[in-house]
Amino acid sequence: MTIRAVLRGVGHYLPERVVENAEFEAWVDTSDAWIQSRSGIERRHFAADGEKTSDLATKAAQAALENAKLDASEIDAIIVATSTPDNTFPSVATMVQGALGANSGFAFDVQAVCAGFVFAMANANALIVSGQAERVLVIGAETFSRIMNWDDRTTCVLFGDGAGAVLLEAQEGKGTSEDAGILATDLNSDGRYRDLLYVDGGVSSTQTTGVLVMQGKEVFRHAVEKLARTAHTALDKAGLNAGDVNWIVPHQANFRIIKATAQKMNLPMDQVVVTVQDHGNTSAASIPLALSVASEEGKIKPGDVLVMEAIGGGLAWGSVVLRV
Ligand code: UT7
Repeated sequence: MTIRAVLRGVGHYLPERVVENAEFEAWVDTSDAWIQSRSGIERRHFAADGEKTSDLATKAAQAALENAKLDASEIDAIIVATSTPDNTFPSVATMVQGALGANSGFAFDVQAVCAGFVFAMANANALIVSGQAERVLVIGAETFSRIMNWDDRTTCVLFGDGAGAVLLEAQEGKGTSEDAGILATDLNSDGRYRDLLYVDGGVSSTQTTGVLVMQGKEVFRHAVEKLARTAHTALDKAGLNAGDVNWIVPHQANFRIIKATAQKMNLPMDQVVVTVQDHGNTSAASIPLALSVASEEGKIKPGDVLVMEAIGGGLAWGSVVLRV
């Protein structure tokens, strides 16, 4: 008997305020045309004053619980992937636990920047297959608008706020690639590239929050090279190949990266979930947000094989193969 971590529910939350590309034209030397042509982004959501990452995460979690028809008391663990926590500590996950009234089990955060959701899914999978938890809420939640340098046109136009959540549940499988649930994960990082994308402040360095700094062109080059490779590695581990994939659910940083990765995997764009135009780059929230939107649109069907892949600061990158 093989235990699999099966997708039981999905949900998301986006803050009310929508910021169109044109708004940035008043703040920095940019244009809607540049932003769209270089990134594919048309708009993004920004959290309201006082609206925190844990607020977004809690609403996404509630939507996933509702979708799964489960009560918060039935959850064993909560993992939040975020690089923009409300406070230095405690974890956003414990704040979500408190807000949901899920007073048993355990909760913790995972910080792997834009790859955070993939790393959190791999952790949740390990907890479930090892019998340490039966039901795990995995949430990606970010308020990147709080760490933008509003004078830096090369970064401030790219990011947005939001949260997505999935509910994973233990289920018996046969141990074959026909099983439902997470079939394989692949995680990587390479700290030699830590200066390509970072925040220039922190608890132990400046005692300030800092702002995001990115060498976009270099990160782009690594993304195009590494994302298809990690997807192929995970598919290989799952005993599948690209031809078995129904949907790529990629990290939504740049439409050109998403397209290049699909091309490298020989998959047409109508098998790729794309939400970057509406959300911008929401870091660890982008994959569960995209998954939830695609589910709402009825795109994802039972039995479908999904590949989620992401890369971000660290560099850290990886992928998850999941059959719905
Ligand atoms: O989620 C974590 C992972 N992050 C990513 O995957 C992001 C990866 N990188 C990217 O998506 C792209 O590199 C960017 C969208 C950030 C930039 O696109 P690019 O095609 O690599 O542009 P570039 O950096 O080469 O800049 C081209 C030109 C430059 O001007 P010069 O030097 O050619 O005169 C920039 O100064 O565009 C200029 N530029 C802008 N112009 C108008 C940069 N930002 C802007 C802007 N508006 N907002």
